[in-house]
Amino acid sequence: MTSRPTDVVVVGAGIIGCAVACELARRGASVQLVDERQAGMGATQASAGMLAPYKEASAGSPLLDFAVRSLDLFDDFVTRASSDSGVAVPYRRTGTIDVALQEGAMGKLRATAALLASRGVAAEIVDGHTARGEEPHLTADVIGGLLIPAHGFVAAGDLTRALATSARRHGTQVIEGGRVVRIAPAGGDMLVATERGTLTGNAVVLAAGSWSGQIDIAGLVARVPVRPVRGQLLRLGWNGAALRRVTWSDRCYLVPWDDGTLLVGATAEDAGFDERATAAGVRDLLEAACDVVPHAWAAGFLGARVGLRPATPDDLPIIGASHVLPNLFYATGHYRSGILLAPLTAQLVADAMLDGRIDPALAALRPQRFGDV
Ligand code: GLY
Repeated sequence: MTSRPTDVVVVGAGIIGCAVACELARRGASVQLVDERQAGMGATQASAGMLAPYKEASAGSPLLDFAVRSLDLFDDFVTRASSDSGVAVPYRRTGTIDVALQEGAMGKLRATAALLASRGVAAEIVDGHTARGEEPHLTADVIGGLLIPAHGFVAAGDLTRALATSARRHGTQVIEGGRVVRIAPAGGDMLVATERGTLTGNAVVLAAGSWSGQIDIAGLVARVPVRPVRGQLLRLGWNGAALRRVTWSDRCYLVPWDDGTLLVGATAEDAGFDERATAAGVRDLLEAACDVVPHAWAAGFLGARVGLRPATPDDLPIIGASHVLPNLFYATGHYRSGILLAPLTAQLVADAMLDGRIDPALAALRPQRFGDV
């Protein structure tokens, strides 16, 4: 950033854009938040809201420490979003169980447990009998599992609505129905051209998820290499006692909601910008769910959701200022972990933009690892 921006245009109203807009506005910036869709209606609406860093991030990846830090912020993040907005946000820290049906999978769980022990993270390897005691719906074929009590889940749609409402209450102008086509510097300002008119600010945050590389940015030869990875997620109407916690197998995860809905995720497909559910995706997820929890065959089928995860070549987010246009800041490429990483991303983006404080964790996430952007 050349100087502390006062007027910021945030491009993209998914969980990341809403969290960033909210944090900037809360700290006194004048913010416009723009998206073609309603807030949270891109990849965010298809998220199961899992908060499981020890499952999603591998040992040694900078993502792991970043995700663990972000998880630590979640209690306060949800409480503040909810109280500032008046929107209830269902949020549970009931842990996860990762189950194995074969010895090979069990070996991987033991390796994960050893890693967690070396970090001082509570986790427990259990045998099949104990796993079924914890989750009576598990198939008799389960030979063991790994319990991680720190994990949880949050209603991603409600959280995003809460953040958007809270951003509005802090003065943010939320512009829905405005597809951004071009970002360009003009004098000391930045212009954001949408199909409905042009917005002006003295800084821009690009948080457009899978679409971040599609927007024309004047003066930039390269674009950030974000590509869509389609995720299909099923909603089932569960009958009877719910699962107690998020349950993972090799082929799917299951997230139980108090309203009796069970979410089953997720496919990971290179399908370009095609946001349709497919028969194959639905069948694969149903089979995977029923293999681990056979009672799922009795569930009602409530529908499928589809989202395009914003993936990067190294599976790490892109967070930091452009070197070509210093008033352009990237907050994108959160791939499978946008919900989990939202609190820390918002905090570090606001620290960098408003206070010039660059957290050391951002070194691995710099946009310049992908060239002159
Ligand atoms: N974080 C889970 C998924 O992307 O499917």
